[in-house]
Amino acid sequence: MKKDNSSNCTKILFVAAEVNPFSQTGGLGEVASSLPIAVNETKCAEVAVISPLYECITKEVRSRFEFVTSTYVQLSWRRQYAGLFRYKTRGVTYFFIDNEYYFKRKGLYGHFDDGERFAFFSKAVLDLMPLLDFVPNIIHTNDWHTALVPIYYRLAYADRPWYRGMKNIFTIHNIEYQGIFGREILGDVFGLADFVFPRLSWKGSVNLVAGAIRCADIVSTVSETYAKELMLPEFACGLENLIKDYAEKMTGIVNGIDMEVYNPETGADLYAVYSAEEIAGKAENKKNLQKYLKLPVKANTPLITMVTRLAAHKGLDILKDAMKGLVKEDIQFVLLGSGAPEYEGFFMDIERAYPDKVRAIIAFDKSLSRKLFASGDIYMMPSKSEPCGLGQMMAMRYGTLPIVRNVGGLNDTVKEGVNGFVCTSHTSEALLETVKRAINAYKNKEEWAKTVKKAMTTDWSWKVSAKKYIDMYDALAKNP
Ligand code: GLC
Repeated sequence: MKKDNSSNCTKILFVAAEVNPFSQTGGLGEVASSLPIAVNETKCAEVAVISPLYECITKEVRSRFEFVTSTYVQLSWRRQYAGLFRYKTRGVTYFFIDNEYYFKRKGLYGHFDDGERFAFFSKAVLDLMPLLDFVPNIIHTNDWHTALVPIYYRLAYADRPWYRGMKNIFTIHNIEYQGIFGREILGDVFGLADFVFPRLSWKGSVNLVAGAIRCADIVSTVSETYAKELMLPEFACGLENLIKDYAEKMTGIVNGIDMEVYNPETGADLYAVYSAEEIAGKAENKKNLQKYLKLPVKANTPLITMVTRLAAHKGLDILKDAMKGLVKEDIQFVLLGSGAPEYEGFFMDIERAYPDKVRAIIAFDKSLSRKLFASGDIYMMPSKSEPCGLGQMMAMRYGTLPIVRNVGGLNDTVKEGVNGFVCTSHTSEALLETVKRAINAYKNKEEWAKTVKKAMTTDWSWKVSAKKYIDMYDALAKNP
């Protein structure tokens, strides 16, 4: 496609390894879905999304996609087919890259050749770009899977006439995943010369996040607090010194949530609808969830819910020890999530030991997760680190007050006594203390109702953050 730069509106190609509702394992998929919708609604900028065409996208959904074109992508010595599909919905154009060898597999990630799969995807994004009916000023990539886009751009595309002048934003959703590989991957898989190793290396290995930090024009992350934390060894997983070197590129914008998808008033997946003004339905949800999970139906026992990946950094390590004290209190605790076998086993054992108090549902279940957000009184989210966190905002939207650590986006969205409870150190004692504070506060029904109302009526939408993204996009697009 010919480049036409006559339109004033900044155009952004948002590149993500997952996008809800087509594919999702976590918060990235959620953001890839809701941020573009929010930006496009303002009509001040236009975002299109590009993602792999995974096996999990059903035939029924695929049948609505339009085939655009195909090409072959050269990945070192490999020549791989890349089909391009397009689908428009909710004001956003989605592009999907098709290659059955790489993406017709169970699960999005965790394959032995993830480095090759996402190198293919990244290269295909750049090669297919002139064939989209969408010419971006800005390429916005996310996490290590797409980190090769700004790297390839800087090393191999920036000087080609069609690509000249594009800008790159790289967003870190979680620094724990860096895309670390041995040096041999450069030539054999990425098709890059060995002398570019210093651009991509960190501590002796190829590190794609390090490479993207060096090659992108702006490096952003998903909350202001996390942007600062990324310069500290406790949070940056070894990249703190590199990030400090590039501090002037760093910025943090807190995520929002899709207020339509998470809405107690429309009640998708809920037992009963309710709102901040008409709260009665919330108790209905609690009662029905207790029945469904065969817990004693008790209106006045605080129900603590938690939806999480079962990983230590989500605070499961301290929660595990705090559980011993927690089960002595008059509470009910319902956990939904899957992950490390150590935690799955622990919570199943606790359920067996305290069948009247604890339920552990080892699954990823979106519909049930909404029931948990809506039915709980208290939402547990004691993450050791949390770049942004969406669960706390979803819980507040449904009037369930969160218990959080004062880190990352949790620190930017939850305030003690105002809309939740804040634990200030990563120990099981401190967590238990915080839960006890919440249980005590729950006893004062009048105050509790006020806090719930405050949490429910705060604007967690993308409006404010979308504006910040648009300002960032516009400023960068104008930058020579
Ligand atoms: C990652 C982070 C989470 C964040 C999400 C979306 O999953 O761990 O904190 O909310 O990305 O940016």
